[in-house]
Amino acid sequence: MRINENYQKLQAGYLFPEIGRRVRAFSAENPAANLIRLGIGDVTLPLAPAIVDAIKAATDELGTDAGHRGYGPEQGYDFLVDAIREHDYKARGVDIDSDEIFVSDGSKQDSGNIQEIFSSELRIAVTDPVYPVYVDTNVMAGRTGGADDLGRYDGFIYLPATEANGFMPGPPETAADLVYLCSPNNPTGAVASRENLASWVAWAREHSAVIVFDAAYDAFIRDPVLPRSIYEIDGARECAIEMRSFSKRAGFTGVRCAYTVVPKALIGTTPSGEEIALRDLWSRRHATKFNSVPYPIQRGAEAVFSPEGKRQTSVQVDYYMANAANLRAELAAAGITVFAGEHAPYIWIRTPEGETSWDFFDRLLHEAHVVCTPGSGFGASGEGYARISAFNSRKNVDEAIQRIGRAVGG
Ligand code: MLT
Repeated sequence: MRINENYQKLQAGYLFPEIGRRVRAFSAENPAANLIRLGIGDVTLPLAPAIVDAIKAATDELGTDAGHRGYGPEQGYDFLVDAIREHDYKARGVDIDSDEIFVSDGSKQDSGNIQEIFSSELRIAVTDPVYPVYVDTNVMAGRTGGADDLGRYDGFIYLPATEANGFMPGPPETAADLVYLCSPNNPTGAVASRENLASWVAWAREHSAVIVFDAAYDAFIRDPVLPRSIYEIDGARECAIEMRSFSKRAGFTGVRCAYTVVPKALIGTTPSGEEIALRDLWSRRHATKFNSVPYPIQRGAEAVFSPEGKRQTSVQVDYYMANAANLRAELAAAGITVFAGEHAPYIWIRTPEGETSWDFFDRLLHEAHVVCTPGSGFGASGEGYARISAFNSRKNVDEAIQRIGRAVGG
């Protein structure tokens, strides 16, 4: 049986399982070590009571004759779609139609799957460092050649996110067909300004390109003036697809609920020049490969928008962001060069002079018993940096700060 040989082009394992492997090996040798995990960005606070109550009530409903439901509508129940339109868009002056919203079980899946509706010959641009899902899924689909020594795939346009551009590159001089942007950014924790997004929208319109805008961390933006949605920028409806998630904003990483917006104004073409709405292609894909998020989970997601849900989840976001503020301030005080993390649950730090990202990861694990994420795992330009997640208890974050300070300070 022949395999999909494109998988052979992929770099080693997916980043987080590789981190997990190193951490397990360390723990097996050091069972008494009290590890603090600031690696993968996974929530640690319990689900908010308003969400738990909604999930429980909906589950009870399913256990009754009157309340039983089978397959749900493919794009999501109206109660959730309407709540998304109202609270995530209308409240910020953006009009999105119900049939442009596709409820799903995660932005990881959606950002990985979206490439399926495009030609196999696209020129794709990604920032570097980048959330690996955007890259790996296109490699799997055969849109690239092999990787070079730095892990850069032949065929991609890489846009370095550097200290010089505040880790938020603007559009390239060259054309591309599809670009993946993430703001607030995973991994660097940087956030796109209105001007930055406006320059991307202008570029995409000029080149008939599509922007895949991953806004999974929008709830962590503190400054109300910063855009939370790309549709706050004029003209974005004609060039951008947006993804948002309940994972980080409401603790749904294990519960699973997200959504993708594909505006009807977004048009692609066939080789003969026929115009096709991308929304219709995504709808076709969604209906073929997905059978909707479970009813109780959609009720739980709806509860995120209730007054209690909003209050309770914003307390949780504030909690993580207080961790981020502590990490920023205290690591800087310990002499570490710290970036971003003001509008994101991730801090991006420079590794000590001469130490690679993975060397730093290993040293932190072995000397400080703290797990971080090596910047180079997100791309060549992440070499020399590491990502520290703010998702953990205050106590663990404070303890980790002390330990990192000691390991780096010597
Ligand atoms: C991360 O740590 O980068 C995220 O948790 C990964 C994800 O959201 O899939």
